Amino acid sequence: MQRSIFRTGLVALSLTSGLCVNLSRSAEPGAPTRPDWLSHEDRVEDLLKQMTLEEKVGQLVQFSNGTATGPENVKVDQDALLARGGIGSIFNATGAKNTNAMQRVAMEKSRLKIPLLFGLDVIHGYRTTFPVPLGLAATWDPALVEQTARVAAVEASAEGVRWTFAPMVDIARDPRWGRIMEGAGEDPYLGGLFAAAYVRGFQGKDLSDPTSLLACAKHYVGYGGAEAGRDYNSVDMSERMLREIYLPPFRAAADAGVGTFMSAFNSLSGVPTSANHFTLTTVLRDEWAFKGFVVSDWTSIAELIPHGIALDGRTAARKAFAAGVDMDMQANLYATHLPKLVGDGKVSAAAVDESVRRVLRMKIALGLFEKPYTDESLAERVELASDHVQLARRAAEASFVLLKNERARPIDGGPVLPLSEGKTVALIGPLADSAEDMLGEWSCKGDKKDVVTLRTSLAERLKDRLIYAKGTDVRTDSRAGFEEAIEAAKKADVVIMAMGEHRQMSGEAASRSKIDLPGNQQELVKAVAGTGKPIVLVVFSGRPLTLAWEAEHVGAILQAWHPGAQAGPALSRTLFGEASPAGRLTATFPRSLGQVPLYYNHFKTGRPIHGEDDDEKDTGFRFNSRYIDEKNSPLFPFGWGLTYTTFTYSPVKASAETISLADINAGKTINVEGTVTNSGGREGTEVAQLYIRQRGTSVVRPVRELKGFERLTLKPGESRVVRFEIGREQLAFWNIDMKHEAEAAELAVWIAPHAAAGKPAMVRITD
Ligand code: NOJ
Repeated sequence: MQRSIFRTGLVALSLTSGLCVNLSRSAEPGAPTRPDWLSHEDRVEDLLKQMTLEEKVGQLVQFSNGTATGPENVKVDQDALLARGGIGSIFNATGAKNTNAMQRVAMEKSRLKIPLLFGLDVIHGYRTTFPVPLGLAATWDPALVEQTARVAAVEASAEGVRWTFAPMVDIARDPRWGRIMEGAGEDPYLGGLFAAAYVRGFQGKDLSDPTSLLACAKHYVGYGGAEAGRDYNSVDMSERMLREIYLPPFRAAADAGVGTFMSAFNSLSGVPTSANHFTLTTVLRDEWAFKGFVVSDWTSIAELIPHGIALDGRTAARKAFAAGVDMDMQANLYATHLPKLVGDGKVSAAAVDESVRRVLRMKIALGLFEKPYTDESLAERVELASDHVQLARRAAEASFVLLKNERARPIDGGPVLPLSEGKTVALIGPLADSAEDMLGEWSCKGDKKDVVTLRTSLAERLKDRLIYAKGTDVRTDSRAGFEEAIEAAKKADVVIMAMGEHRQMSGEAASRSKIDLPGNQQELVKAVAGTGKPIVLVVFSGRPLTLAWEAEHVGAILQAWHPGAQAGPALSRTLFGEASPAGRLTATFPRSLGQVPLYYNHFKTGRPIHGEDDDEKDTGFRFNSRYIDEKNSPLFPFGWGLTYTTFTYSPVKASAETISLADINAGKTINVEGTVTNSGGREGTEVAQLYIRQRGTSVVRPVRELKGFERLTLKPGESRVVRFEIGREQLAFWNIDMKHEAEAAELAVWIAPHAAAGKPAMVRITD
């Protein structure tokens, strides 16, 4: 519907081996690349006929190779089990020699020679590390993200890994939750576009391509809604909320042909998601016709016992299986109990057969029977190929979000950024030279040796005009380094402060109850600000932080996430203006923690305050939905991001003032357009965002919903008209009867630079 937003040209990555990987994919969002899993049914049935019940259950069993990415509650003799056909999948194994050796046991010692499927959390790169997913989402560029996933697939598959537990498509509205870093942020529409992009990138054109990775949409579902932002916590929400906000990215992954889903840890409205028949069967199988298989998260089947819906492993296995979990990750409960449950008539043999079919189909589709092993010399040739590294730099540059850039402390009479050459720079902060932290969590084989830090890149550029002082550590009370940092600042024309979270402060099991700069970093920023020197604060984090003081007192703030192996070159080029920041937030930055969860697409209450989502002045009236000690508005809204030029937006024009619901249902659309002009002095990239709001409907609708966007790179003075079509797809919602339909409504439409800007055009959708 929206115009040419994701038109990707042919992009070819040449690898050092001389291989050429064509990255072009079906460019339209949501275009299915469904592998033809169902075309090998004879082979599946033939195998199934030969299998004993134990061998069948074996295909539904998965173990880590020893590396713990969760509590390790089970130790088994993997080789013996493999030889008996008792394991279908191994995960956390890397290294071609290693995976080949395990595969040899399955292929040479097991009776039916069914190959193992090796899984791994290939999240944002394999050896070549890209920015963390929340940073990649800030690119608002699914085609670019698809390329990063393709590169990750090429590198991981070279070591025998053919299944990634990615993408994580959980909507996250609470920055306390550390796993906000692993997803695309708070918006279901954008989340769906990125979900599909990752699936296309990982799975490639065809699963049988040896460079393809089976993808896994996780964590199904609602995991990001963890109460109080505490990881693994329970989630309770209405079915409407589930369908409107949390399910759409999963649906988009399914539509893009994702091969597997992972059931989550959390309970959802009282029913753990790894035993949730409604989500796993009613929605996923019956409504969406998903044909792949579902793996549990790490021991989440065993966790049905502490959840309290099973008193023993046998019941846990029965409940998870009955709900629709095909494969047991790490709990060893299917292996232990499923055969007996079948024998006792508590689980049907036909249901086991169906789960086994789903797994076998994937193994056949991946070509594992024909090519179970990988070439042990391949990884070395493809890892860190120069095109991969260049892509890592481009992706990092595209992910940076310029939060603030003012003349507050002018140098050369202009905004602080970009920096001009010839100045002396003080580089201060615990993350300026921390290679490991640049990798972010879940960095697979990413190695700190591969990382170029900001300090290294600035030293190359500035030589003796760079003064470095660490100043403090990420989490410490010690002020031992303050003095040196202040002295460095005094000698410099401008100060770059590299502050934020170390990499293990986000990701799994990394929820925070305070989301400001950790340790005494803010004190250091204050101390350095006391010198009066202009400051550029570069923030490394896996989540939105509360930066209200910094936003008031520091001249420029660049949100850099954990930017990956090319952190230094990407930052140095951006700070000095060879690259311009083009990132936009996909997660709201609150002013203070008490505001969270804070997200742009909230509902208006019956007592809204004026001034924040109506652009009217807040009257300060007491009996409105407000805090007595904080504004309602965020510090930086969803969609926010500055660059080195400025853009203006014309008023939005709609093709009609009214349209009938019958016309909408018959496929007619409203066309809206606006003109975006580069009003500054440099070329720059803008992301023009389409938002709608509907009122007069049967249920409350969000104050704004993102429905499209267009990335525009404009020269100074250049204007471009952006056009969008709004039809049934954009207008339908889960109405009072829980039907997904459009309704008569008063429709407001914005084309704006972020979720808190612009004036809408009004359209009436009549009955
Ligand atoms: C637990 C995590 O929740 C999940 O995201 C990951 O894929 C598995 N462990 C396997 O490492």
